[in-house]
Amino acid sequence: MGYQHAVTAYRPLIAGNWKMHGVEASLGEARAIGAWLEESPASARVAICPPATLIARLSAAMIGLPVEIGAQDCHSEANGAFTGDVSAEMVAEAGARLVILGHSERRAMHGESDAIVARKVAAALGVGLEPIICVGESLEERKAGAAVTIVEHQVRGSAPEILAGRPFAIAYEPVWAIGTGLVPTLAEIEDVHGAIRDVLGSLFGQAAGAVAILYGGSVKASNAAEILSAENVGGALVGGASLRAADFLPIIAAA
Ligand code: 13P
Repeated sequence: MGYQHAVTAYRPLIAGNWKMHGVEASLGEARAIGAWLEESPASARVAICPPATLIARLSAAMIGLPVEIGAQDCHSEANGAFTGDVSAEMVAEAGARLVILGHSERRAMHGESDAIVARKVAAALGVGLEPIICVGESLEERKAGAAVTIVEHQVRGSAPEILAGRPFAIAYEPVWAIGTGLVPTLAEIEDVHGAIRDVLGSLFGQAAGAVAILYGGSVKASNAAEILSAENVGGALVGGASLRAADFLPIIAAA
C-alpha cells in the first residue's frame, strides 16, 4: 500500500522490553550487551527497558556505554495516592530516558484505554522522556479484517497533539504475535506500518517522517533481518529475545 508522507532519515531503534523479568543477576546480560556494542558500534539505537526496580542500577551499569534505558510504564499523574504506581519523574530520576506506554499487556490487564495512554504520554513528555507508544490488534480483530482500522484508531487516541516536535516512537505489536512465535507476513506488517505513517502524517505533518515505527511480537534472530527490511519498519520492540545477550545481539546486528 502506498503512503503519502515521505520518510526522513532517522536511526532505527531496537528496544528490549524485559517485562516482569530481571533481578540484580540479570545485569550481567545487559553488561555483555553494552560491552559488545562498545566494541562493535551498532547502526541502530539500542535500549533496554527493565522492571522499575532495576532502572537505577542498570543506568549506573551502562554509564558510558551505547545503551539507553527505558521504563515499561509510568502513571499519568505527577504524584498522589496511587499505591504501587511510579510517576514519570520517578523513572526519569532513576535514569530512564524512554518509556514504553500502552503496551497491550497493560491495556488488557490494567484497563488502559487510549485516553489514559495519551495522558501518560503527556506526563512522560513533561519530564523529557521519549515515549514508545504501543498499538496492535487482537486475533479476533485481525480475523475480522479490522487490523488497520483498529490500529489507526489507537494511534489517533493514544498520540496527543502535544507530541508535535518531540521525539517519540510508535510500536506496532499485534497482540496475537506477542510471545507466541507467530508473526504477520511482511505484507501485513507493511500494510499496518504504512497506515500508521499516514495517520502520523495527518496528525503531525512532515515531522511524521522522522518517527520510528517499531514492530514487536516474536522478533528473534532468525526473523529480525527480514522484518527490519520492511517498508516503514524503523526498529523493533523485543520481549523474550531481549533477555539474553546471545539472543538480543544478533537482532541488533540485523538493524
Ligand atoms: P515477544 O518478543 O516476547 O513476543 O514480546 C513482544 C513484546 O510484547 C515486546 O513489548
